Amino acid sequence: MSEGPLLLSPLRLGAMQLPNRVVMAPMTRARAGADGVPTEIMATYYAQRASAGLIVTEATHFCAEGQGYMRTPGIYTPAQIAAWRKVTDAVHAKGGRIAHQVWHVGRVSHPLNREPGSRSVGPSAIPSGVNIFTPDGILPAPVPDALTQQEIAAVVRGFAQAARNAIDSGFDGVEIHGGNGYLIDQFLQGSANRRTDGYGGDARNRSRFLWEVCEAVLQAVGADRTGVRLSPFGVFNGVNDQDPATLFGTAIEGLARLGPAYLHVINPEVSGDRTVQAGAIDVPRFSRQHFPGTLMVAGGYDRVSAEQALRQGVADLIGFGRPYIANPDLVARLRGGLQLAKAARATFYTDGAEGYTDYPAPA
Ligand SMILES: Cc1cc2nc3c(=O)[nH]c(=O)nc-3n(C[C@H](O)[C@H](O)[C@H](O)COP(=O)(O)O)c2cc1C
Repeated sequence: MSEGPLLLSPLRLGAMQLPNRVVMAPMTRARAGADGVPTEIMATYYAQRASAGLIVTEATHFCAEGQGYMRTPGIYTPAQIAAWRKVTDAVHAKGGRIAHQVWHVGRVSHPLNREPGSRSVGPSAIPSGVNIFTPDGILPAPVPDALTQQEIAAVVRGFAQAARNAIDSGFDGVEIHGGNGYLIDQFLQGSANRRTDGYGGDARNRSRFLWEVCEAVLQAVGADRTGVRLSPFGVFNGVNDQDPATLFGTAIEGLARLGPAYLHVINPEVSGDRTVQAGAIDVPRFSRQHFPGTLMVAGGYDRVSAEQALRQGVADLIGFGRPYIANPDLVARLRGGLQLAKAARATFYTDGAEGYTDYPAPA
């Protein structure tokens, strides 16, 4: 066993060799330009954080219907794909590794934030009940159209194409966003899924869409470059389930059989981008019981709790979200036991450099 902190010890993750177990968790920062094209400032932001064992990008949509919010990036037009190449080049030039988070928001969306003519879609015509920032203020997300089976198949293909586009843009891997109440989680959790076909009903049927997406992405880019993120027992964005233990146990065991490079789970104490009160369920331990492969956990970790989770064998990698916003040199600060700067919430999703690339960079 290594003498130093496990958090700073290397790990082989599928096709990637990570110098440490510190992962920059995926974070939407809303700095993309017109038409979802990644900006220069995004390349600077990610490159500043290249000492992470792995960076996972902000969630990125791959079709008009998959976008929910303002100024989020896409990965389906030639301009978007070309601009992502600048991001991956910038991170690689600093010696880093970067995976791309593939995302479809489903019903958590507003038409004012999407290409004209595109629809809100979901497993069933049930609204999320969430309010969304739009150019006209905060507005309720509308009732989605229930996807047909043909449309579901097209979305599955869309995930796979997005993964291919990501690898073509120079990403080292992809992470399927299956959590936080977005499309995959809407299929999983009973409150959003009342389908009566093979995609609704029992836990297996509701996991089918997740499994099909995972399988398609694995076939597109290889299991050694594919991760999956879930938020078991999560209730963010208006989802919940009557029997989450059965649901997520089933979903995770099915994923384990498909064998992605890692499973990434979020502690329910952190709901989306906020810390909340949650029940007694220990999501990392629960996930470990159902997933024998590499496990990444995120949500409320600091230097001490991260090391403890690794030492206890509960997790193999630790995702840090908010600490990475204000501490681009997080690895160095963890290594030195230095105090961490606190991120300013007011600039999480604002446009421009303030609160984005202006936190003091590594010396
Ligand atoms: C500003 C912000 C944006 C986020 N956007 C995403 C996202 O795009 N995809 C995702 O899976 N999680 C997202 N999250 C959740 C984080 O990845 C992470 O799970 C959460 O912040 C808990 O980790 P922390 O306590 O270290 O911040 C976001 C969190 C924050 C703070």
